[in-house]
Amino acid sequence: MSHSPVLVFDSGIGGLTVLREARVLMPERNFVYVADDAGFPYGGWEEEPLKARILALFTRLLETHDPEAVIVACNTAFTLAGADLRAAFPGTRFIGTVPAIKPAAERTRSGVVSVLATPGTIRRAYTRELIETYAGSHHVHLVGSPHLARMAEAYIRGEPIDDEAVRAEIAPCFVEQDGCRTDIVVLACTHYPFLANVFRRLAPWPVDWLDPAEAIARQARRVVPPLMDAVEPAGEDIAIFTSGQPDFATRRLMQGFGLRVT
Ligand code: DGL
Repeated sequence: MSHSPVLVFDSGIGGLTVLREARVLMPERNFVYVADDAGFPYGGWEEEPLKARILALFTRLLETHDPEAVIVACNTAFTLAGADLRAAFPGTRFIGTVPAIKPAAERTRSGVVSVLATPGTIRRAYTRELIETYAGSHHVHLVGSPHLARMAEAYIRGEPIDDEAVRAEIAPCFVEQDGCRTDIVVLACTHYPFLANVFRRLAPWPVDWLDPAEAIARQARRVVPPLMDAVEPAGEDIAIFTSGQPDFATRRLMQGFGLRVT
């Protein structure tokens, strides 16, 4: 018997960091991975045109795939369009991705936290509200990186990484304030966990790099009912690229993640 898939959406390959956790918790489900690579990177877009693009895209995606639920595995997209998506498609369950400011505020010992994200996510009212609501008594530094999402894409496709360029992007995360140093950096872009080992190697001092992928997957598991009649997926998992033409390295990467590019 085939069941509706879970759709995982991102601007590029960053959502794979969430897909791999979702698979662990929902082994019986099929997944459709959608990368809006024709619009990548989302980080530099103006808000209104990006929101319109995402809503138009979802009109088609939901019609075609009729998913059981959608994981928007992209901070830049969800902090902008999450509420509009839920309002426009009330019959669809959306699981969102937002900067993990609340868990960071609960865990920090120094009280100095950085949020590393795309420039879009840093600009969002949503992000400011999370800080006011959950981290009002802490020092939260917002660091918008214009280049890291692209660097992560290149790195995961097997291209060499430029240490100095990465060091420059993460440097503003490391802050000393009133005798206290940053102890948590929130990875608020789903592309960044692919670079976590590079970040660790280049960091001026050790910090906790907070990756919300597992928490997002847990939330998805709560929302998506387990299939009692299945222990493994009935069909295959697929990947869709809005450009229609992912390159060879990307197709190989998708194969490695068990996704057939359609
Ligand atoms: N992976 C996306 C995020 O979580 C954005 C990367 C981009 O398109 O700039 O924010």
